[in-house]
Amino acid sequence: MRQTTFALAATVTAALICGASCLVQPQEVFSWKEMEFAWPSKEAMDEAVKSGEYIRENNLPLGIDRWKDKLFVTVPRWKAGVAASLNYIDLSTANTTSPLTPYPSWMANKLPKEGEHPPEDHVVSVFRAFVDSCDRLWVMETGLADILGIPHQVTSPAIVIFDLNTDKVIRRYQLKPEDIKGDDSFFANIVVDMQPGKCDEAFAYIPDLGGYGIVVYSYKDNDSWRVKHNFFHFDPLQGDMTIGGVNFQWTDGVFGLALGNPEQNGDRTVYFHPLASTMEFSVNSHVLKNKTIATDPHSYSLYKVEGSKGPKSQTSESTIDSKTGVMFFTQLQKDGIACWNTKMPLDPPNVGMITQDNEKLIFTNDITVSLLFYNM
Ligand SMILES: *[C@@H]1O[C@H](CO)[C@@H](O)[C@H](O)[C@H]1NC(C)=O
Ligand SMILES: *[C@@H]1O[C@H](CO)[C@@H](O)[C@H](O)[C@H]1NC(C)=O
Ligand SMILES: *[C@@H]1O[C@H](CO)[C@@H](O)[C@H](O)[C@H]1NC(C)=O
Repeated sequence: MRQTTFALAATVTAALICGASCLVQPQEVFSWKEMEFAWPSKEAMDEAVKSGEYIRENNLPLGIDRWKDKLFVTVPRWKAGVAASLNYIDLSTANTTSPLTPYPSWMANKLPKEGEHPPEDHVVSVFRAFVDSCDRLWVMETGLADILGIPHQVTSPAIVIFDLNTDKVIRRYQLKPEDIKGDDSFFANIVVDMQPGKCDEAFAYIPDLGGYGIVVYSYKDNDSWRVKHNFFHFDPLQGDMTIGGVNFQWTDGVFGLALGNPEQNGDRTVYFHPLASTMEFSVNSHVLKNKTIATDPHSYSLYKVEGSKGPKSQTSESTIDSKTGVMFFTQLQKDGIACWNTKMPLDPPNVGMITQDNEKLIFTNDITVSLLFYNM
């Protein structure tokens, strides 16, 4: 089996020189052949294997984010046998093959049985974790288990927000029926837009890659709304992909979101792209944050085409380094990570590959810029 690796430290120096063709060798921080979990005991693990609750090879890491010494790692329930979907690694004691510890607890990550009323902090399946500057962890709980097997909606899609200092749920907000487009909706990502210190004035943007929309949630108003736009759809010419020698066709729409630096009034550019696309688009956050404007069809022209990233540049996740304004984005078909200085126009000559490895960087899926890694 191929090694799964996280490589986070290398993007630093490249930030200053994006555009020049300069490949860097990422420093490998963790690598696993198969994911290990920090079970309460050997007996507990054996029991979970025996009952089918833990099928080792079905546990694939996907999303990452960091808060202090906790590196969050999500393991979506693609198949049966995922031990825990939301996990972390304690970086203060970690080695290269550290096991994942379920967050906030084993209990919260246990699949509820038929008819069982799960605790408020339960997590069935999450793809991404987002840490904000008010020490909160936001996850989009899809509630869907065994996606590729016998999919079943265990609980309703909900935004779950944890207080990282107490590991308690601050809020669980179930999406409204009108936020969801029947069976098409698929919420695999969440990005939080807020200014430091203004904890109540936070907005979450949740792309719907299957229903081609963005759901916006206002923390202050405890309300959500669904935004539509043609740019949220996939490009039919860019859905045919080959990754790691495997050819497949995808129809994933809007998936990656990256926030530009805030203007004086707190508004900022929100960059976004469908996954099956080589284009990048943007809209000012004031459009998304105001329910009236966001849902007004006349707002159509407020969305911008940033440009093309070039052939085979399909991207899952992107992120912007606030210091330099450089966007880093995964390159699914090119086995690597590219960058673009957002102060320049977006066209292929202004896009640089910063790392590429057709063995170790197959299906680069998530990316995050963490200042603390600068010293590693
Ligand atoms: C890594 O740490 C785990 C405990 O967290 C331990 O079981 C394992 O033996 C360590 N591995 C190495 C290579 O030191
Ligand atoms: C937020 O709204 C939901 C209804 O959608 C309600 O159940 C919940 O209690 C509200 N939470 C807060 C903190 O107001
Ligand atoms: C939202 O936009 C509408 C129309 O421009 C405006 O009247 C309203 O005051 C705005 N709401 C907020 C909360 O800014």
